[in-house]
Amino acid sequence: MGLLDMARMVRDPGLERIRARPPRNLAIEEAVRFLLPDAPSTGELTVLLREIQLDHTFHDEVNERFVNMRGRRMSFERWTELLYVIVRVMRPRVVVLTGVFDGAADAMMLRAMQRNAYGTLVSIDLPAVEAISLSTSEMKDSSLPRGQKPGWLVPDDLRLRYDLRLGDSRELLPAALKEFLQIDIFVHDSLHTYDHQLFEYSMAWPSIRVGGLLMSDDVLWNMAFWHFIRKVKRESARVDTLGAVRK
Ligand SMILES: C[S@@+](CC[C@H](N)C(=O)[O-])C[C@H]1O[C@@H](n2cnc3c(N)ncnc32)[C@H](O)[C@@H]1O
Repeated sequence: MGLLDMARMVRDPGLERIRARPPRNLAIEEAVRFLLPDAPSTGELTVLLREIQLDHTFHDEVNERFVNMRGRRMSFERWTELLYVIVRVMRPRVVVLTGVFDGAADAMMLRAMQRNAYGTLVSIDLPAVEAISLSTSEMKDSSLPRGQKPGWLVPDDLRLRYDLRLGDSRELLPAALKEFLQIDIFVHDSLHTYDHQLFEYSMAWPSIRVGGLLMSDDVLWNMAFWHFIRKVKRESARVDTLGAVRK
């Protein structure tokens, strides 16, 4: 166990338990049906999943950008596919995300919004011109490609519905939430410290409409997500590193 892990364990005694026995890792269709009681059948959700998995136009464009910039093929994490299916099913008016980096999650949701012909994605990022501890420091690439803005991976034709804001979410998140009054989905993927995660969850929660979703990546890093859902008395769904609750 490294020093960082030991410090986390001391701060969050429940962390070892949640890491040793995390809630069951769900299939994407299962997670959607858990989060959205009115969701279509599992078979129909699989069709939506295939829609993005076999979307060669989208994948070719993103892959070309990624190979040119990072020198290897792009591979989307499974939880970003969950975001795609959720946006297709919910048809959200406003999604707010913190932590853009290259823009993989953003690209997925924007492709879904393009298909829906509806919705805006408001994304907030610092940006990560250098590695940021407890945010990008443990990623394969820990900083943006030189000269690139967050979200550089997003294809040009998806930018119509993209409202990208650069700065610290401690300042920009309250401002964005005030501006939109009500949002459908909040996604946290910025600074993964206990205090910052709780700050973002607590700030976003009152603005999420009833039936809307709060989603967070890297929920096994500390206890913030698990303490938050206990406080708001909700059951969560987990897909790999992402946790989600319905309001
Ligand atoms: C884990 S990466 C995001 C990965 C991205 N969601 C994806 O789909 O690949 C974390 C991002 O959070 C941003 N970040 C870190 N601290 C932040 C803060 N206080 N406010 C806004 N963004 C922050 C970093 O600049 C970085 O781009």
